[in-house]
Amino acid sequence: MTPSYDVVLVGGGGAGLRAAIAIAETNPGLRIAVVSKVYPMRSHTVSAEGGAAGVIGADDTLDEHAYDTISGGDWMCDQDAVEAFVKESPQELLRLERWGCPWSREPDGRIAVRPFGGMKKMRTWFAADKTGFHMLHTLFQTSLKYTSVLRYDEWFVTKLLVDDGRVQGVVAVELMSGKIEAITARSVILCTGGCGRVFPFTTNANIKNGDGMALAYRAGAPLKDMEFVQYHPTGLPFTGILITEAARSEGGYLINKDGYRYLQDYNLGKPEPKPVFRSMELGPRDRLSQAFVKEHEKGRTIETPYGPVVHLDVRHLGEEIINKKIPFVRELCLKYQNLDPIKELIPVRPVVHYMMGGVSTDINGATPVAGLYAAGECACVSINGANRLGSNSLSELLVFGARAGQRAAEFALQHKDLTPAILAQAEDEKRRLEKEFLHKSGGRERIATIREEMHKTMEQSAGIYRNGATLAQAADALRRLQERFKDISLQDPSRTFNTELTAALELAFMLDVAETIVHSALRREESRGAHQRTDFPARDDQRYLAHSLALRNADGSCRVEQLPVTITRWPPAERVYGKG
Ligand code: FUM
Repeated sequence: MTPSYDVVLVGGGGAGLRAAIAIAETNPGLRIAVVSKVYPMRSHTVSAEGGAAGVIGADDTLDEHAYDTISGGDWMCDQDAVEAFVKESPQELLRLERWGCPWSREPDGRIAVRPFGGMKKMRTWFAADKTGFHMLHTLFQTSLKYTSVLRYDEWFVTKLLVDDGRVQGVVAVELMSGKIEAITARSVILCTGGCGRVFPFTTNANIKNGDGMALAYRAGAPLKDMEFVQYHPTGLPFTGILITEAARSEGGYLINKDGYRYLQDYNLGKPEPKPVFRSMELGPRDRLSQAFVKEHEKGRTIETPYGPVVHLDVRHLGEEIINKKIPFVRELCLKYQNLDPIKELIPVRPVVHYMMGGVSTDINGATPVAGLYAAGECACVSINGANRLGSNSLSELLVFGARAGQRAAEFALQHKDLTPAILAQAEDEKRRLEKEFLHKSGGRERIATIREEMHKTMEQSAGIYRNGATLAQAADALRRLQERFKDISLQDPSRTFNTELTAALELAFMLDVAETIVHSALRREESRGAHQRTDFPARDDQRYLAHSLALRNADGSCRVEQLPVTITRWPPAERVYGKG
């Protein structure tokens, strides 16, 4: 008998668990399935470090948080979504506090906040520098109290079932047994996180392959603003492990090979005795990553076997602050870089960290496909525009996870009957997986080769700086890789934890997502936020104050359309940093 639920959530990280709790609270009678390819506590939310933004200080206002977010996003954010976001973030963070999240505190017991890049006020709540771990733990343990939430841990979703114009479930592989099963539902929420693994050098875990984005895209939902790929300025060379922005917000400096604080040369202010909001190391991520490239072009970075780096200097903070405020930075440096930041400089370079784009949703997480919702990094609401501010994403997954959960619950209550055609569709999908992967032999292509070529293509064409010629070549190269992918076959026919099968399915998802990134970047002939075109170096509000919508054609190729940006109270203006 086919298992059937009211709502199926794909992904068991922060957004998925927050959505599950919201559904259970909206109506305890609804049956909820959380289908996740990893055990929830292994979701990528666990690795978030620096904090979650929400107005709390008496000197801060919702409008200031909104303005920082909108200017940080280079006016590509939907301002109605940002207004909802800044209003609901503090409520969500306090809710988490009641559920047991151990926020760091001031000596007098108040919630502690730290400054973060591109923000004018201290509004980033944190739990030392392991914020994601504590938030995910809190959400996971809270979800356990709802008996209506059933978990499918280590199940890999391969397809959304769509009939009669609405989503009615998924097909998934149980990784332990290899069993392929339909799980039907009256609504589905995608919460699978980002797609950093489309690139070779990323902070993202191996599981971040854009699964939910590709599932939605194949089901006819547009992917919005995929050209905006965030590079975080401080990743460890070789591993790409994140060195949190908190290291800079606590007072760390970025210096070049001459020991010079080079950010002062890039319109980001001048060095001051204490960190200044929106200045120097507290500038926005897009500008800091671009400054690194320029510094490299001037020959002022340091060459290493793993590419050019600059140095992050936290030595002057002293052992006590480092151990108290950024203990994980020290732990990571000791374990992965074999150095102690109390005494030594940390080599860092920009690293792919976050997708501003994702499944296009409205302010309640609804996609244009009825019954299909998305939240978290997998979605584009859009509050991040062309460049997300650090610490907005953890609050985003709470606010829009909750909203998506509530709306998906309402949709499920209004749409009771499933259509018989979806079971036939599920059988087709089972046959496809058997034929194209499990029972196929003689393929001439290797998964690893295609993945490596995709990585090279993406790094060369869709990095911090892009241009039309390279993007056009990349679009052709990805099309060829899609063709070549059809000629793979697996060496491993086993059913139990067949990691070769998951690698193949993930690669197929990544190729689709990669095409949407490259086509959206090619179409946007301007420079805005994290999308910098050397052939179109200026922002062009006349032609491009609009979202990109990447849609899949019947032959699998990608086309890009535009959607207006919602402007409520903050008309486009120049982005100015370095003045506090
Ligand atoms: O640097 C960091 O801790 C990253 C935070 C974020 O991406 O929001």
